[in-house]
Amino acid sequence: MDVIVVATANKGKLEEIRQYLAGTFTTFLSLTDFDESVEVIEDRPTYYENAWKKARKVGNRFGMATLADDSGLEVEALHRSPGIRSARYGSNDRERVDRLLAELAGVPFEARAARFKAYLVYYLPRLGQTFMFYGELRGYIGLERRRDGGFGYDPVFMLPGSGRALSELSLEEKNLISHRGRALARFKKFLSA
Ligand code: IMP
Repeated sequence: MDVIVVATANKGKLEEIRQYLAGTFTTFLSLTDFDESVEVIEDRPTYYENAWKKARKVGNRFGMATLADDSGLEVEALHRSPGIRSARYGSNDRERVDRLLAELAGVPFEARAARFKAYLVYYLPRLGQTFMFYGELRGYIGLERRRDGGFGYDPVFMLPGSGRALSELSLEEKNLISHRGRALARFKKFLSA
């Protein structure tokens, strides 16, 4: 039985990772499956270091193979904000999206280019080995919120040329093109090598 701990309490991330890796691992645990809570303060200056910190801390605590994701949204017109502070841009998804739309008020669609970045860190505590996988997705921040779906900034992240927001895709469709899906594809290839 292949067990993996996904070092997150974010349900949206967990569902995407579980969907993508369903045939690869038999059991997925996340931080909410343990009685003991592990607090990881994401205080490092880069996504990679934050993902590394989460994977190491959780993996060492539970002694199991661990996958951590640190990801974020970078908007060119906002000098790449919210970036590594994407999760802290507001206290919930609604507030974060409202703040983003407010900060982009008056910026025309063609100047609203953005990208999602995802860094996955896979840590094997018994071997002391750490591996990193990256993916990104380019698009635009829409002028208004679209249908609810996905999580985080998905309702305002528009895919180039399709007129659709990420929130309008199924989990499977999102995983085929997203930053996290691309990083997961690299991780899966690594596991099968
Ligand atoms: P962290 O990796 O825990 O620091 O959180 C990343 C934050 O970036 C999330 O809480 C979301 O706000 C945002 N984010 C990352 N990936 C996605 C995504 O696939 N869709 C929408 N928002 C995302």
